[in-house]
Formats: sequence, structure tokens, C-alpha cells
Amino acid sequence: MKKPSIRTITVKSLINVLLVIAIIVLVITAYNFRALSKKAIENQALAYVELVKAGLTSHMKAGIMNLRDYYLKEIQQLDNVSELKIIRGDNVSKQFGAGNPVWERINPDDKVRKALGRSEPVFVLNEFSLHPTIRVIIPYVATSKGALNCLVCHAVDEGAVLGGVDIKMDVTQYRNQAAIVMAVIFTISALALLLVVVNTSRTIRSFVQIPLEELVEKAMISYNSRLPVPLEKFNSKEFTNVAEEFNMFNSQIIAHQEELREKNRQLLDLNDEIESTLRETVFTMGVIEEQRSKETANHTKRVTLYSQLLAEKLGLPQEQVDLITAASPLHDIGKLGIPDEILFKPGLFNEDEHRIMENHPAIGYEMLQHSQRDILMAAATIAHEHHEKWDGSGYPRGLKGDEIHIYARIVAVADVFDALYSPRVYKEAWPLEQVVDLIGKERGGHFDPALVDIFMDNVNAFVAIYDRYPATE
Ligand SMILES: [Fe+2]
Ligand SMILES: [Fe+2]
Repeated sequence: MKKPSIRTITVKSLINVLLVIAIIVLVITAYNFRALSKKAIENQALAYVELVKAGLTSHMKAGIMNLRDYYLKEIQQLDNVSELKIIRGDNVSKQFGAGNPVWERINPDDKVRKALGRSEPVFVLNEFSLHPTIRVIIPYVATSKGALNCLVCHAVDEGAVLGGVDIKMDVTQYRNQAAIVMAVIFTISALALLLVVVNTSRTIRSFVQIPLEELVEKAMISYNSRLPVPLEKFNSKEFTNVAEEFNMFNSQIIAHQEELREKNRQLLDLNDEIESTLRETVFTMGVIEEQRSKETANHTKRVTLYSQLLAEKLGLPQEQVDLITAASPLHDIGKLGIPDEILFKPGLFNEDEHRIMENHPAIGYEMLQHSQRDILMAAATIAHEHHEKWDGSGYPRGLKGDEIHIYARIVAVADVFDALYSPRVYKEAWPLEQVVDLIGKERGGHFDPALVDIFMDNVNAFVAIYDRYPATE
């Protein structure tokens, strides 16, 4: 599921909060504005009523009550007065008789009775109709106080209700005005809300989202390049702090890596030393065997170098070339197990002596086979199989062709070449042509044909090795 961004979450929660606030503010404003408007309308109605009252009183004082209709007509024609009625109280009716039905409300309704009964104004606001109106009924109460002493003209007690005015006004203008003001407030609120949301969204994008993405990107570059994240890229304190923390953390990791690399290098050095110690030890063991068997001088060294040359020319992987180079010095290590009287016997061996002499591959294998080290395992194989022949006529097991390990096939060529080309106590050194001739004849007999071909192509290199480490001083 795709997760929302910080910006979306913030803007959503901001909209929720602002909407609630806006609704509350609008409701409160609307309520107060309505109350204010209502009060203003009532005040205007009261002013008209006072005007009617003053007019009627002045007509009465002037003794021209019969001319009051002109006055009332003028009042009624005022802009928003839609209806105007005089209410004649019982006391006044008794004193002056019934009134004129054109201007007077002859049959009082509930509202009129309520206003006159309680001596209090009654307001009836009809604000939800297409043409909203307000009806105001104001009682006239007789009083002797002030400039206007009612009791002079009216034969009533103090505080008696003389009558009243029932006036109806059109308030469409007020209602429309109120609606416009509310619409303006609503629009301004909506615009303010939009502005806050857009601004917040932009702020989060500029100061949170983009710096965050940049920090991630710069952190990766910084880790790879080992350079610190540039702090001036960030405007806010928080992101600068995070970048600083990251730089500290990164430099610690880099230091740890350096430490590990150094340790690893030391380990590799140590491993190299162990490997070379093992190689030298193995070579020395070969030399010990060479000395004890009274082999021609440098036989071990030369066989090692011929084997390396053949392995390289055959195209073996470097790892295997190194292995055969390290292991070939031990090819005759089994001779250490052959009794002196047989090993050093001048002249030819009898059948039993031959059998004992031919035990040296098995003895060598026995000596070396227990090791788990690659070099000694290779040496065990070479010691065991270096007298096997390609055509299966060799010893000790009569292995054939590919059954003989490639290391042993290589050492066989190297060992025989050196035996023939060097002088021995029992023979002269063979001339090179004769050696090459014999090895050629044994192609596919004693030797692997592929190795004989390589030998033939590299006779000079073999001779060069012999000349560098000769059998005689
Ligand atoms: Fe041998
Ligand atoms: Fe040998």
C-alpha cells in the first residue's frame, strides 16, 4: 500500500482543524450578526412608532384630530412601512367613541391583546419568507410625568393603556444586506483557509520534504565518496543537526572499515607467510630426500621448474600451477622408507629388490595422505602416481590415461627428462637428441601425448632450466 507523504498528512489534519474553527467562527458571527440586525430593525420600528405617537399627540393638542389621516398616510408611504394601524384602547373608546376602521384595528388579535395586556412591545419577525417582514405592536401607556401629560386630555388613571400602534415593515433590504455580509465573511474564510493550506503545503515541501530527500541522497554520496554531507545545503536547524549526526556516524563507520581493512591485510600477510613457510618446508623435505637418496644435485629444484613450465604451457589455472610447483619436490619422498642396502646398491637390482624399490610411491602416499592441506594432498597424489604410465603399464596401480592425475602425468615427464639428461652414478648423461627421441617415442606409451607435444615445443626451455641448476659443478 502506498503511504501518504508528510505533506499530505499535515495538510489533511490542518484542513480538519481549520474547517472546525471556520464553522464555529461562522456560526458565532452569523448568530451575532443576526441579533445585531434584529436589534437595528426593532429600533427603527420603535422610532416610527414614536413618530406616530408624537404626531397624534400634536394633532390632539392642536385640536385638529380630524386631520390626522393626512399625517398617517404620509407615514405609511415611508419607504419600508407596509402597514400601519392605530389601536384604540377601551378607555379611549369610552371617552371618544369608536374609531375609523381605515386606520384603526377594530378586532384585536392575540398579539395585540398580549402587547396591550402586558404594556410591553411585541415583535414578530418573519425572516424566512421571500419578502421578510417585522410586525411591531407598541402599547401607549398614560402618564402624567414629563412634558406630555396624557391625563390632561384622557380621562384615565396613571399607567392605563390608551391604545397602541401596530406597524409592519418590509425588511428585505436588511435580510439581503445580512446575506451579502455573511457571503463575504464565508468567502474570506474560505480564501484564508486555502491560503493557509497552500502555504503550509509549500513550507513542508521546501523545509521538510525536499531537504529530507536531499539528505538521503547526499548521505549515500557521502558514504561512497567518504566526504561529509555539506551542512550549508540545509536551511533548518533540525536538518543541519541530522546531517552533522550523520557525518559523525559516517566517519565512525569509515574508521571501522579502515580498521577492518588493516586487520584483513595483516591476516592476508600472515596467511602468505604460512603458505610460503609450508612451501619452503615442503621443498626442504624434498631436498632432504634428495640428499639421503644421493640423487644428482639440484634434481628436486629442476623437476619443480620443469613441472611448473609444463603446467603453465598446458594452460592450467594459476592456482593449480602454484600447487604442482609447491608439491612436486615431494614426488620421491617415499624413498626415505627404502632400506640403505637397496637404495645404495651398486649395479642392477634383483627381482625382490625391484619390488621393494617400486614400493616408494605407496610409501610416499602413506606419508602424506593424512594431511588436509591442499599442497600436501597434491604431493600425496603426485608421490603415488608419478610412476604410472599413460598406456597403463606403470606402477603401483597400473592406472591408464586420464585416470592418472594431471599433476602426476606432468611430474612423470619432468622426472624422466631429468634422470636421462643428468649423469647418475650408474650412467652417463644422455645426449639431448637421444633424450628427446626417447620421450617422443613414449608419446602415448609412457607419457600423456599432449604433454609430450608441449615438451617438444619447449625443449630449449627445459635445457635452460638444467643449465641454470646443473647436476655437476
Ligand atoms: Fe620416483
Ligand atoms: Fe625423481
